[in-house]
Amino acid sequence: MKPPDTGLPDYEARRLLQLVTGLDAAGVGLLEQFGTDQETRFRELVERRLAGEPLQYIEGSVQFGPVQLKVDSRVLIPRPETEVLWERAVEALGEADANTVIVDLGTGSGALALALKHAFPAARVYATDIDPDALAVARDNLEDKGVTVLAGDLFGALPFGMRGNIDLLVANPPYVADGDELPAEVGDFEPPVALFAGPDGDEVMARLSEQAFHWVKPGGWVFVEIGETQAERALALFRDFRCDVHEDLAGRPRILAAYRPTTSCIEGSR
Ligand SMILES: C[S@@+](CC[C@H](N)C(=O)[O-])C[C@H]1O[C@@H](n2cnc3c(N)ncnc32)[C@H](O)[C@@H]1O
Repeated sequence: MKPPDTGLPDYEARRLLQLVTGLDAAGVGLLEQFGTDQETRFRELVERRLAGEPLQYIEGSVQFGPVQLKVDSRVLIPRPETEVLWERAVEALGEADANTVIVDLGTGSGALALALKHAFPAARVYATDIDPDALAVARDNLEDKGVTVLAGDLFGALPFGMRGNIDLLVANPPYVADGDELPAEVGDFEPPVALFAGPDGDEVMARLSEQAFHWVKPGGWVFVEIGETQAERALALFRDFRCDVHEDLAGRPRILAAYRPTTSCIEGSR
């Protein structure tokens, strides 16, 4: 069936058709007509999409690397650049066993934590967030997958005994400057706590950098997603680590990789 005329791009209309009929893409192609209830539901979903609501919220799920997550307007929709962060972090850590500690600070839907648990099933994976709404979604996505979900402000969510014992810390903190204009699809629908971070967008990253050195073990890694104008400031903030900046799929500097050396003259002076 060719999607009815909706004003939406064809592939979006097809995805909504799949949602209301429960059919896959091939099934929708073969469909000759749909029932009145399905048509009413389809028109409702088209209206939501035409009003700017992201397709992923309407569908209620998203694919992130190898894992599928439930999403709604309580959490940021995981982005392709965050998948790049996940890939780089997996390469850096290499392998993990039952003593390996992985932490995702500001987990939102739980995307990074779940994809890391998928890559390193034996590792102990922890996911945190400050926002109770986001935590409810994260718990739904993570708790039956063996990831521990904790509530709190950055490292304040973690048990103190974890200090100095983290092998891999990942974070995609909010990094939009307060007052910055965002596309309506983002600004009108995604949670402000997931987006904004002070007058220059650095606030959460800066607070994270103040403590990261003490929480990550020597020989451990920190991967932080950054805004495309933040690389220099991020390198300055994480100067105690050995740092690299990786690019996203569009070639923009978007991922800070910070390695805590096993021996360091900085350590002695702290
Ligand atoms: C940009 S979203 C990233 C969500 C998810 N990690 C992802 O990549 O899709 C930032 C997340 O950090 C959380 N957050 C903001 N400030 C925080 C803080 N001080 N401590 C912990 N989490 C925080 C937000 O609630 C939000 O879920």
